This record gives sequence, C-alpha cells and structure tokens, in this order.
Amino acid sequence: MRRTLIAGNWKMYKTISEALELVNNLKRELVDQDTVDVVICPPYTALSEVSDILNGSNIGLGAQDLHWEEQGAFTGEISAAMLKDAGATFVIIGHSERRKYFFETDQSVNKKIIAAQSKNLTPIVCVGETLEEREENRTTQVVEKQLKQGLKNLNPESIEKLVIAYEPVWAIGTGRTATPGQAEEVHEFIRNWIKAEYSEELSSGLRILYGGSVKPSNIKELIGQPDIDGALVGGASLEKDSFAGIIRNVK
Ligand code: PGA
Repeated sequence: MRRTLIAGNWKMYKTISEALELVNNLKRELVDQDTVDVVICPPYTALSEVSDILNGSNIGLGAQDLHWEEQGAFTGEISAAMLKDAGATFVIIGHSERRKYFFETDQSVNKKIIAAQSKNLTPIVCVGETLEEREENRTTQVVEKQLKQGLKNLNPESIEKLVIAYEPVWAIGTGRTATPGQAEEVHEFIRNWIKAEYSEELSSGLRILYGGSVKPSNIKELIGQPDIDGALVGGASLEKDSFAGIIRNVK
C-alpha cells in the first residue's frame, strides 16, 4: 500500500523566525497524526534551524532544489551533501518555476536526481504541462518527454526511491485546480508509463503527488482518485490552519 505524502513547498517565503514559528505550530498541531507522511520544504536559509526543531518529530524536511555537482566554483548553488548536512531528507527537483524562470531542463533534472540519490535524499520530481500545451491536447506528450529525459538511464532501485509530482503549470498559484478527473488521467498515464518502462511492481509502489492550488476543501476529492497518492502544496502550506487542514482532510 502506498502511504499518502503531503509535502509543503514554501517557495521564497519566510525568514528564519517566521519559519520556526510555523514549524513549532505545525509540530504541535500534528503531534498525534501518524497516517500521513508529512514533509515541509522551507528556503535554504531556514533548513538547519527548522531541522533542529523537527528532530524526532513526525514531520520530514526537504529542500526546494540542489545543484548536481558535489562541490566547486558554482556561486550561489547548494550541493546534495550540504542539504544532507542541514538536515534535509527530501528535495524538490524540476519545479515548473525553476524550469520557467531559471531555465532548468529535463537534462538538469536528470543530473540532479542522480546527485540527490547519491546522498540518500529522496527526490520529488515535478512534471506538468502549461495551459497552452493542454489546450493543444499535448499534455501526455509533454509529460512523457519530461519523464523520458528526466528519468533517463535511471535504474529500478533509483525509481523505487523517488516520488513524482504532477503539477499542471496552469493550476499552480492560480486557484485553478485540475478536476480530480483531469489529475487522475495524468497520474494514471504516469503510472502506466513506469509500468511499461520498468515493471508492474515499481509502478504500483510509486508515489505520485498532485500539485496545483491544493487546499483543505479540495484534497479529499483528489486523494480519492486511485492514482493520486498525496499532494505538493504551495500557498496553502504557508499557514498552519490550511496545511494541517489538508492533512486532516486526507483521512
Ligand atoms: P500552489 O503551488 O499550491 O500554490 O498552487 C504548488 C506548487 O508550486 O508546488
């Protein structure tokens, strides 16, 4: 059985003190919950201190990106070892905002997955189409290309240890959620693609999250779909009530 995973992507929000306040509140609020895996991904600057607070709790810690090299003259970048050192165990890779504003490609996604896994970080690999691509009926074609190139040459052990997030670009931060049917259609496509490329066993164990304007009021319907195993949450992860509300409504 796939365990539900709810991950919060804080993006470029929250200073260290704001992060600690939210994390302390979340920790208290979620102390008794043990049915859902919960991960939060604060900005780099807050990782280490948030990690200290989360230590021994039921909330995991992730980062929002990494560089694929181990170290070197790459001003502004952060390596997998540094994230590990700061206490992260997950890392988001290939978010559409990174692809759009920072020119990330499926090739860099591929290198980042390998770098993350070399330090035992669990990648949350994002795929998804733009509105234009959806309107041109190219959704599955776009997602397939992202999977094919992003997961290129990865062995089964590597697929087993990653999470995929389907995030239609037109649903991110727009308040416009994909309908459960629209989301399920792509989730099913992704699962079948993994099955065809790898195996039934790997595809049935793979966690595929949905992302794009997830909130307490729409999580239930989304999670009710057979191939939706959780959510990557942006805006609604920035407040205790909305993030905890999503987790509560999963059950
Ligand atoms: P959103 O963001 O929930 O604010 O739409 C999701 C994401 O970008 O991961």
